[in-house]
Amino acid sequence: MNKIIVSPSILAADFSNFENAVKQIDDSGASWLHMDVMDGSFVPNITFGPQLVRALRKKTEAIFDVHLMIVSPGRFISEFAEAGADMITFHAEAEIHSQKYLKEIRDLGLKAGISLVPSTPCSVLEDILPYIDIALIMTVNPGFGGQTLISECFEKVEKLSLMREKAGLNFRISVDGGINEKTAQDAVKAGADTLVMGSAFFGSNDKAGLVRRLQK
Ligand code: DX5
Ligand code: ZN
Repeated sequence: MNKIIVSPSILAADFSNFENAVKQIDDSGASWLHMDVMDGSFVPNITFGPQLVRALRKKTEAIFDVHLMIVSPGRFISEFAEAGADMITFHAEAEIHSQKYLKEIRDLGLKAGISLVPSTPCSVLEDILPYIDIALIMTVNPGFGGQTLISECFEKVEKLSLMREKAGLNFRISVDGGINEKTAQDAVKAGADTLVMGSAFFGSNDKAGLVRRLQK
C-alpha cells in the first residue's frame, strides 16, 4: 500500500502572497504542493498558468503536483514540464488522446496523472491504467475551493481501488475537493492514498500537526 501523502492546494492561499504560502507548506512538513490551473472554459474560473509554476520553482523543493483543469491540455504539457512541474494531471473529459499525453508526460520524466469529475465513471480509465501514476478523483465539481464533498464519489474511489488491485498496479489514488480531517478518513478507507487539501490546510492553525496526523 502507498503511504498517505497530503498535497496542500495553493488555490486556498492568499493570492497576494504565494511566497508565504509556499513557506507555510514547507514548514508544515508536506512534501507536495498542488496547483490548480483553470482556464475559464473547462471550469467556470480562471487561476494561473506556467508562469506561476516557474516563479515558485525557485522558492521550494516541494513536489509540484499540477492539476490542469483546461480544455485540450495536451497543448501545454511541455510548457508546464519546462516550468518545473514534477507531475501533471489532466482531465479525461478534456482530452480525447489521453494515452498519448500520459505517455508524453512520462517521456518527459514526470509522473502522469489523469482526473475525473464526479459524473465520469472510473471505467473510462480501464484501458489506460498502466499509463497512470496518479488517478485524481474529484470529490466536488471542480472550479472553486471550499465546497462540500460529494460523498458518492467515494464509491468511485472504492471501484478504482479494486481495479488497481486486480490489475496488480500501484498508481496513486488522489481525492480533491472538500477534504478535511474528517472526510480524509473516509477517503483513505475507500482506497485513496493522496489527499489534496485547500481550505482545510490553509484554514488550520496547526498545519504541521494536521499533516502529521493525516500521514500517520
Ligand atoms: C477544486 C480544486 C481543488 C481545490 C480543493 O476545483 O481542484 O484542488 O483547491 O479545495 P478545497 O480543499 O478547499 O475543497
Ligand atoms: Zn485540484
